[in-house]
Amino acid sequence: MCGIVGYVGDRQAAEFLLEGLSKLEYRGYDSAGIAVYNGENIRVEKCVGRLAALREKIKDDVPQGTIGIGHTHPHTDCSGDFVVVHNGIIENYLALKEELIEKGHAFKSETDTEVVAHLLEEVYNGDFEESVREVLRRIEGSYSLVFMCRQHPDRLICTKQDNPLVIGLGDGENFIASDIPAIINRTRRTYILNDGEMAVVKKDAIEITNRKGELVTKKVFEVNWNAEAAEKGGFEHFMLKEIHEQPKAVRDTMSQRIAKDGKRIVMNELKWNADFLNNFNKVYIVACGTAYHAGLVGKFYIEKLARIPVEVDVASEFRYRDPIVDENTLLIVVSQSGETSDTLAALKESKRRGAQTLALTNVVGSSIAREADQVLYTWAGPEIAVASTKAYTTQLILFFMLALYMAEIKGTLPEEKVAEFVGLLQQVPAQISETLSDVEPIKTFAKQYGFNEDVFYIGRSLDYDVALEGALKLKEISYIHAEAYAAGELKHGTLALIVEGVPVIALATQKSVYEKTLSNIKEVKARDAVVIGIAAAGDEELEKYVDHVIRVPETDELLIPILTVVPLQLLAYYAAITRGCDVDKPRNLAKSVTVE
Ligand code: M6R
Repeated sequence: MCGIVGYVGDRQAAEFLLEGLSKLEYRGYDSAGIAVYNGENIRVEKCVGRLAALREKIKDDVPQGTIGIGHTHPHTDCSGDFVVVHNGIIENYLALKEELIEKGHAFKSETDTEVVAHLLEEVYNGDFEESVREVLRRIEGSYSLVFMCRQHPDRLICTKQDNPLVIGLGDGENFIASDIPAIINRTRRTYILNDGEMAVVKKDAIEITNRKGELVTKKVFEVNWNAEAAEKGGFEHFMLKEIHEQPKAVRDTMSQRIAKDGKRIVMNELKWNADFLNNFNKVYIVACGTAYHAGLVGKFYIEKLARIPVEVDVASEFRYRDPIVDENTLLIVVSQSGETSDTLAALKESKRRGAQTLALTNVVGSSIAREADQVLYTWAGPEIAVASTKAYTTQLILFFMLALYMAEIKGTLPEEKVAEFVGLLQQVPAQISETLSDVEPIKTFAKQYGFNEDVFYIGRSLDYDVALEGALKLKEISYIHAEAYAAGELKHGTLALIVEGVPVIALATQKSVYEKTLSNIKEVKARDAVVIGIAAAGDEELEKYVDHVIRVPETDELLIPILTVVPLQLLAYYAAITRGCDVDKPRNLAKSVTVE
């Protein structure tokens, strides 16, 4: 998610726009741009690279004017009379673009945002507000948008749907931003826009209306966070903020990839067909850390739904073991940052050997995104905490959708089953929210067991894959020794470590191996371990055999990892807090491992 800023007042707009963008730059952008009305025209200046590159470009000729907007990519219509900045995704942009091209609009980019600028030009009838309303009637998706119009140089219009937008109230000037850190140096008095609300922002007046055009009276929200807390959206740590962002991150990752009828997956980025898929006799998934754990789940999904054999490998191993990779291999690399050096090297090596390559990454324009033949983005927004959370859940969502997409092409799943899965997918964001709504028991467990030196995680099948991720989370931020075991492997060694009072987190959500998992739980209970069970709602059995149960909403057992990982993230977080650890910057670790 990029930063949006806007200014209208008596001061030079560029000054605030650059300052506001710089406050949001910690998210890491690949470009920056501002648009300022200079009394005659709207002058747009953009630049590839960090904000410093834009500053350098305009340092001797800063756009002059007292109204303007900024973003990574401000977009204009054909005439240059309309400028739009946008966060989010316009789902129906392709259809709108075709229509607008037919009407003679010339596009300069492939982005969905540019469509909005041309659409405004197309529907403009002299009434700026009414024309924006018409645009909003026509677009579908999630967005925060700010519009600027040369014919109305006294106002900005902004609106939002599923993306944040805030208006900062000044004295004879007003500010717009996607996030509070951008405005906190200028004002602490804000209006937080709700979905569907539209604001006309002038220097000395703000008018807010709802979807029906009715006036809305809003309460002023006084921001009393300091600048650092503001970046964290009021949460104590980025990790906690990012855990709570998961419903939105998952929704954004799904959006645009579900057909209008809600029954199929569409992957406009891929456009694969049966010939393309039949060419592969093997799929490799290669990644590091949490992304590797997502790959393990990805393998399960692709094999189960699309019936294609998949191998998963840690990138640092894969690249040095002379893997059997050729033109009949599909290599999928997974990387939040898109910059992990081992993953990038594995990708380059596989390309050299002739493989087709696909990247699942979160960072647009990253090295891995640029290197891979094809890219699927997780639209998780910037992940700042070293411990990866929302990247993992969005990677799982994307793998599930990819597997369904492959299954549709290969005909390995009946249409009704695909439709059923797509229906369940759409429930996941609300189910994550539900999981996040009651953290108190997890806090209590973290306090109770946070000083143990060893914790074990067990599970079978997909539960084991999630156990691996849960253990990694606990290790990296709380420094507790945590090990994940396939529950059936316990007897082959690890059971020797289970003694009185050792905490064991037991995941038991997979129906096909439920009884087997229960018998493993009984084994550790018999050694007096303290067992915290993770179960699906409606499971009345598990509580008979464990000390505590954490329940997540019921869904298909394939999708449940996206829910069960959430309490494990929270457990790690609160355990780290209990132990006084630096949650966002754990010792010895970096967010992105760009050296070997
Ligand atoms: O950016 P990437 O997804 O390639 O990063 C891979 C790992 O370094 C990363 O997932 C790491 O394991 C996290 N700190 C785990 O929380």
